[in-house]
Amino acid sequence: MCGIVTAIARRNIVPVLLEGLRKLEYRGYDSAGLAVLKTEGTPQLQRLRAVGRVAELAAQADATGLSAEIGIAHTRWATHGVPSERNAHPHISAGLAVVHNGIIENFEELRSGLQAKGYKFTSETDTEAIAHLLHDKLKSIPDLFDAVRATLAELVGAYAIGVLSETDPNRAIVARKGSPLLLGIGEDGYYAASDTAALLQVTRKVVYLEDGDVAELRLDGYRVTLQDGTPVERAVNISSLSADAVELGKYRHYMQKEIFEQPQALGNTLEMIAGGGGISPQLFGADAVGIFGATRRVLILACGTSYHAGLVARYWIESVAKISCTVEIASEYRYRDSVPDPETLVVVISQSGETADTLAALKFAKSLGMNKTLAICNVPESAIVRETALRFVTRAGPEIGVASTKAFTTQLAALALLTLALAKVNGRLSDEDEAMHLAHLRHLPVAVAKVLELEPEIEGWAQRFASKHHALFLGRGMHYPIALEGALKLKEISYIHAEAYPAGELKHGPLALVDKEMPVIAVAPADSLLEKLKSNLQEVKARGGELYVFADAGSEIPQSEGVHILHMPEHYGLLSPILHVVSLQLLSYHAALVKGTDVDKPRNLAKSVTVE
Ligand code: M6R
Repeated sequence: MCGIVTAIARRNIVPVLLEGLRKLEYRGYDSAGLAVLKTEGTPQLQRLRAVGRVAELAAQADATGLSAEIGIAHTRWATHGVPSERNAHPHISAGLAVVHNGIIENFEELRSGLQAKGYKFTSETDTEAIAHLLHDKLKSIPDLFDAVRATLAELVGAYAIGVLSETDPNRAIVARKGSPLLLGIGEDGYYAASDTAALLQVTRKVVYLEDGDVAELRLDGYRVTLQDGTPVERAVNISSLSADAVELGKYRHYMQKEIFEQPQALGNTLEMIAGGGGISPQLFGADAVGIFGATRRVLILACGTSYHAGLVARYWIESVAKISCTVEIASEYRYRDSVPDPETLVVVISQSGETADTLAALKFAKSLGMNKTLAICNVPESAIVRETALRFVTRAGPEIGVASTKAFTTQLAALALLTLALAKVNGRLSDEDEAMHLAHLRHLPVAVAKVLELEPEIEGWAQRFASKHHALFLGRGMHYPIALEGALKLKEISYIHAEAYPAGELKHGPLALVDKEMPVIAVAPADSLLEKLKSNLQEVKARGGELYVFADAGSEIPQSEGVHILHMPEHYGLLSPILHVVSLQLLSYHAALVKGTDVDKPRNLAKSVTVE
């Protein structure tokens, strides 16, 4: 979603703002803009805005020879109003410029009040209301920092903002509530951005702002207060994120890089079990033994790909730990009446840790008295991680491609560990089974690397069906969520309409869609459901459907006219979904390449979905 960069430094900060925006491109956006203050003579705001890519904004900056020591910049993902230059940030109110990430829920009310006072709106955005409200506040509260705090007090919703003012040209003000924002302490100045990747170009020293924080950045320092003005200290961290981790290197796309990073990402995530010992519940936090021991049920809340990880985990938790488990889409759970149960372990899964619906669902569960909470997340300092009693941080490294790949497989690895920890604490894991499961987990990076070697064959398949308009994915048991994930990957990056079904459901409706124009992709591991699945595949074949079957080493499925079979290197038991999904990621990636879509930044989508 939207991204923010702010800078005040003893240098021309325009290239820093632009490079910061480039690093935030992965979050998803449709327009970009920046405002700087020219401080020689009478301070004056200069604003540039462009629909489309940051490169367009950079071209404008070049053409105008823009240079300044203080500025704010923004990538916008449209919520209120179409993507257009008029709606792009920064928004200006007579000498004040504001950039904003998030949604102001009471903006219509604010807008009417401000219009009644004579303010003219030139955009359809909620952000413009912040700029005019701040301008109005400054009439009675002359200090910019205090006026920003008074403005924030009237906002309902989520925000991260950056503010510049012609009347106060020596500082930039930033604030956050519900949307991410961190400060950067550089050698030559101070910075702020929506994530660390944007600031690595100037510093590794970062300060994570907390919800409700307001900060002032000056050339000679910074300060942070709560929204009521109480000064607060926030720790300075040295980011361990390497600049290489957010560079493409030898790869064509981030998605390709991230697919191929999976053996490493899994190895890093599973590092704690690499030694010979058993599973330690404390991997999830100091209180894990107590909480897991008192867990009678598990409720998993997540969105998108993370929800699919939860669906796989349900099979594991119920079959290995013998604990009842439900999985719910966060945006649904948060708005329905449910029966709260304090003996339930609430597990939230999120790559970004900022997904608004998942965060709200977690807070909702807590408000119902369900305080046994666990976050499985890839971003240690994220909002979701800060809200839970227990946490497991996956070590996938930054995921830049909008399509989640290595985040998903590392989430599954974390959920496999959770299953074992729950089983162990509740006396449902024999020493023998524990050793067997751990040995499988330790071997996982090697097993995934072997799946990646299938890329040439999968590429061939992708060439065949990239011209199709629809595709059907089938799976059974714990591979049904993998079929769901395969369909989601295909539609989000290649725009081919894809649906997934548990194969047994085929004849209850979707079989009507099957003809030679409908490729059917089947996930067919050599498990106890294979024979059932084979019958389902016959139903497709008999209707002239073209089948692409991902089978296991031991699955006897004969190749024939219209039935293409690819054998996975090995059958992987309970962890088999982790191997099978990798082949489906490759399939989508290559289908998107054939179609020529924007693989890393698919249309209309954002990486961090920080709005509802
Ligand atoms: O950051 P999260 O894991 O909470 O994000 C949830 C979904 O938005 C995300 O998984 C989305 O479905 C992916 N882009 C799919 O590839």
